Amino acid sequence: MDEKKVVIELDNVKRDFLVGDETVHALRGVSFKIYEGEFVTIMGKSGSGKSTLLNQLGCLDTPSSGEYYLDGVSVRKMSKSQRAVLRNRKIGFIFQNYNLLPKTTSVENVELPLMYNAAIGAKEREERAVKALQAVGLGERLYHKSNQMSGGQMQRVAIARALVNDPAVILADEATGNLDTRTSFEILILFQKLHAAGRTIIFVTHNPDIANYSSRNIMLRDGHVISDEYNTNILSAEEGLAALPASSDE
Ligand SMILES: Nc1ncnc2c1ncn2[C@@H]1O[C@H](COP(=O)(O)OP(=O)(O)OP(=O)(O)O)[C@@H](O)[C@H]1O
Ligand SMILES: [Mg+2]
Repeated sequence: MDEKKVVIELDNVKRDFLVGDETVHALRGVSFKIYEGEFVTIMGKSGSGKSTLLNQLGCLDTPSSGEYYLDGVSVRKMSKSQRAVLRNRKIGFIFQNYNLLPKTTSVENVELPLMYNAAIGAKEREERAVKALQAVGLGERLYHKSNQMSGGQMQRVAIARALVNDPAVILADEATGNLDTRTSFEILILFQKLHAAGRTIIFVTHNPDIANYSSRNIMLRDGHVISDEYNTNILSAEEGLAALPASSDE
């Protein structure tokens, strides 16, 4: 663990929001390091600051104070356009509602993050999209449109899209929140495979069960980190799926 590379470092990050003449302290000084290859869940009740934190990590918002280093680079010192490039190249996002383009094929959806990179031509773009879709088990659904697929399949497309740029970190916000139990396990299996392949994953959720499948869990309360623990007994999502009663389809 000592030799591992630090992918994310937060140093006393605060985020205040001014609402009328009142200040909401959404993050009250959050510090942690996340190392390459970790699968971290971030948990906490509604309003504890999870989305605010994820927005900082994803360079979608800037802290009121404190430092954020992504892959060794200080995000605070960057211009808006530098941050946009950083976000595109270093971060793969996965959302609860998939955020796919409607009536658009899997391949086209997955190609999207590569469009902003002039160095990658149309042929390579398609090849990489196809490879990413095969990696998430969607090799048979390459030219299906997003409205012709199930929720689990749409989330796989979103995961392929998050992977296609080979990002330093994958950020997921309630990625299984819209899925039934069985499909949630299938998506968790995929996350565990990505983890086993060395990917760095941060998965925000209010579902405490998910933490059983990650390697580390950070708990937020009222804008503070209240615990940060390594999981010494990571459960297998594959076994969890196998143990589900056969009739729990819905
Ligand atoms: N843009 C904003 N303006 C003002 N207050 C905000 C803003 N965004 C978040 N907050 C406040 O900051 C606190 C943390 O909100 P946040 O959305 O990060 O919580 P959360 O943990 O993601 O909750 P949930 O589980 O409901 O999604 C809340 O008190 C919220 O009202
Ligand atoms: Mg939230």
